Amino acid sequence: MAHLISTSCSISIPSRSNFCSKEQNIVGTKVSFASFGSQVSSFSLKKLIHRGERSQRVCTIHATTLPLTEEAKTQPSSASTNISHEGSKKKRVMIIGGDGYCGWATALHLSKKNYEVAIVDNLVRRNFDQQLGLDSLTPISSIHNRIRRWKSITGKTIDLYIGDVCDFEFLSETFKSFEPTSVVHFGEQRSAPYSMIDRSRAVYTQHNNVIGTINVLFAIKEYSEECHLVKLGTMGEYGTPNIDIEEGYITINHNGRSDTLPYPKQASSFYHLSKVHDSNNIAFTCKAWGIRATDLNQGVVYGVRTDETDMHEELYNRFDYDGIFGTALNRFCVQAAVGHPLTVYGKGGQTRGYLDIRDTVQCVELAIANPAQQGEFRVFNQFTEQFSVNELAALVTKAGAKLGIDVKTISVPNPRVEAEEHYYNAKHSKLTELGLKPHLLSDSLLDSVLNIAVKFKDRVDTKQIMPSVSWKKIGVKPKTIAA
Ligand SMILES: NC(=O)c1ccc[n+]([C@@H]2O[C@H](COP(=O)([O-])OP(=O)(O)OC[C@H]3O[C@@H](n4cnc5c(N)ncnc54)[C@H](O)[C@@H]3O)[C@@H](O)[C@H]2O)c1
Repeated sequence: MAHLISTSCSISIPSRSNFCSKEQNIVGTKVSFASFGSQVSSFSLKKLIHRGERSQRVCTIHATTLPLTEEAKTQPSSASTNISHEGSKKKRVMIIGGDGYCGWATALHLSKKNYEVAIVDNLVRRNFDQQLGLDSLTPISSIHNRIRRWKSITGKTIDLYIGDVCDFEFLSETFKSFEPTSVVHFGEQRSAPYSMIDRSRAVYTQHNNVIGTINVLFAIKEYSEECHLVKLGTMGEYGTPNIDIEEGYITINHNGRSDTLPYPKQASSFYHLSKVHDSNNIAFTCKAWGIRATDLNQGVVYGVRTDETDMHEELYNRFDYDGIFGTALNRFCVQAAVGHPLTVYGKGGQTRGYLDIRDTVQCVELAIANPAQQGEFRVFNQFTEQFSVNELAALVTKAGAKLGIDVKTISVPNPRVEAEEHYYNAKHSKLTELGLKPHLLSDSLLDSVLNIAVKFKDRVDTKQIMPSVSWKKIGVKPKTIAA
């Protein structure tokens, strides 16, 4: 059954007995979270708030510290947009992973643009922080308070379904209840180092990501055949070939014959491999069942601010800087802010595509507004600029100097197995053709990243900055993290 939770009720959710579980209290709702394991958690809720047809849906989130008198009096303003989404009032977007970094920003952005939005999330990302003793640099509110605050400011409701997409019963009920016209699937374990901690995290990552995506595909086939799947892949699926990287497909001439084939994938962690498996499964179901899908091979995202998350501190997005979840630029800015040398892994020639979180939300909106055709497996490379790690370090050093910070850089042994000097030229024109207006790093580095890092530098745990996971030393023994 779908777990559309009204947190004014207290619901006790048993975890499966074969999981290592941890109880948490989330704003009055007692929830048992399964932590990582070779099987995937599911919330086997027996009693639900929601029953019956969509017209009877319960979609108000009641948990908040906000007094009822502060409920929204204002009506939503129709923000100007250069993205056409005619008929968008009828567009119902399910955002799987909507409590995460990209998903939260996207949920608010689409809600602001008058899409009907539902967040589906099992909150496992918050649980990873608890397992590993990590925390977002920015203080983040509970999902319930986030949604309640959004409503109080804009008058817009975001539905919330708490549950695991690996639990097909839950996902089915969620689909039947919300009836999405688009599904944006962010809901995966997304850290390469996390997937390389030990065997159980490697297995968890592949199970969570691959089975979750297969379930989403079956749910679309069964309940919502017209629904457009927008799936977050990663540029890391391609690896670093010594030729240009195309957008999803490459035309090959071989022994006098020619064909356009999926671009070769050379993933370099169990996480990245899970994304390759996802891409293959999606491509197959587009052919076999006529699913319409867009695979967004996203680069490394940086920044924390969007127009919507800036509206109130309870809407702040998460900002990961630690050695496991922190992305390179976010981590460098935090290091600069606390006077820690920037830690370049190895030679620093590793080059990747990058984009601002404000462009992530724009790209997803563009993909939804211009859906793939029935049976089409469309691939967009979603990044705006490419940089080597050394180039990023130089940019942060320069930006630090403008704030009077003397930034130092050191090279540390590379915990990953990857080329440290290589050719890299990845195409990324399809989203630009649809109308993407990029925020370039040169304009936003100080404003959107470094100043935020400086503002919250007292919250930095410097013990979390150095890399702690080695690609070569991964073993079968569960690795525990010492306090
Ligand atoms: N952040 C980046 O730089 C980046 C780069 C490339 C691709 N991506 C992809 O974008 C997506 C989102 O990344 P993010 O940085 O926002 O990650 P995140 O960890 O912040 O968010 C993922 C969200 O999904 C939820 N989730 C995970 N497994 C789930 C499950 N089985 N059922 C329901 N919810 C589940 C988590 O609780 C979390 O809230 C991921 O698929 C990731 O691979 C991210």
